[in-house]
Amino acid sequence: MVQDIRVELTKNKRVKPDMKTVKFGKSFSDHMFLMNYEEGKGWFDPRIVPYGPVEMDMATMVFHYGQEIFEGMKAYRTSEGKVQLFRPTENIRRMAISGERLVMPAVDEDMFLAALKKLLEIDAEWVPSEEATSLYIRPFMIATDVGLGVHASKTYIFCIITCPVGSYYPEGLNPIKIMIESQDVRAVRGGTGIAKCGGNYAASLRASQLAEYKGYSQVLWLDGVERKYIEEVGSMNIMFKINGEVLTPSLTGAVLAGITRKSCIELMKTWGINVSERLISVDEVVAAAENGTLEEVWGTGTAAVVSPVGWLTYKDKTFEIGGGQIGKLTQKLYDGLTGIQWGKVPDTLGWTVP
Ligand code: COI
Repeated sequence: MVQDIRVELTKNKRVKPDMKTVKFGKSFSDHMFLMNYEEGKGWFDPRIVPYGPVEMDMATMVFHYGQEIFEGMKAYRTSEGKVQLFRPTENIRRMAISGERLVMPAVDEDMFLAALKKLLEIDAEWVPSEEATSLYIRPFMIATDVGLGVHASKTYIFCIITCPVGSYYPEGLNPIKIMIESQDVRAVRGGTGIAKCGGNYAASLRASQLAEYKGYSQVLWLDGVERKYIEEVGSMNIMFKINGEVLTPSLTGAVLAGITRKSCIELMKTWGINVSERLISVDEVVAAAENGTLEEVWGTGTAAVVSPVGWLTYKDKTFEIGGGQIGKLTQKLYDGLTGIQWGKVPDTLGWTVP
């Protein structure tokens, strides 16, 4: 059911960033959407208010036990100046799956979409029009019961904030360096790997920080039990082209079901390219890199879009992929996907929502 959304417009417009130098997720638009939940009452008071801090008790559950989920999506400005979303229902459904794992209530699909549309209508001027830019949308939900007993909260806040962004990695579309992590793990089957929750990202920070110190953009995670199979990067899923075949790790229960991942697989299918979703061992990737059949590697994600990987390091051995240049299929995927998102090519798959 779609409830009426109360609107309080800002009296102090925020300063828009320079889109040539804007950093990912650092500059936020004028307004945000908020809605509260109480057990027995359901969702209530949907509202759009000026972007800003919300006062919270320091014993609020989310601060202590991390009962939090989020999504990442984008709004794009087309060459005709219109604003469109990309497969928003996929994100809305995935958030419900994350919520199920963390015992959090789902937001009604129509209400979620209505909130997105209303917020974008009010903050439409924040959807940038510069080449390769978009408005990143971050819906999230937090547990708001106050108290330190460990149990699922009975109250929640659902919030949507937005920020104009360029590329996620400072490298842009230039290939990035990735380190395959063999010490820490991100998730295990039966854990929260399939959910988009803050805890997964917190657990990834130590390895990511060490990798960053060494000059890598991110780490590539191996499975949490055998440390044998490739899983995902955390900020993106991963795909390989080995000896003409496209491979990506199957959704084993510890890997996030990326919407860009799914879209790339579907897009490649329309081009006659089949993608094998299966267990991929790190040894198989290393062997392919050593015998010259590892043709392309790229990541896929809402923030990362399609990001070429030019170098992979595993246990102090670094392999250069495709001469450190973006591969043909990676470029084609980037162009194909962003072409639909920015309305440059007809959306024959029905993925965009005005
Ligand atoms: C996204 O791609 O939207 C993500 O959530 C990844 C990252 C920025 C956390």
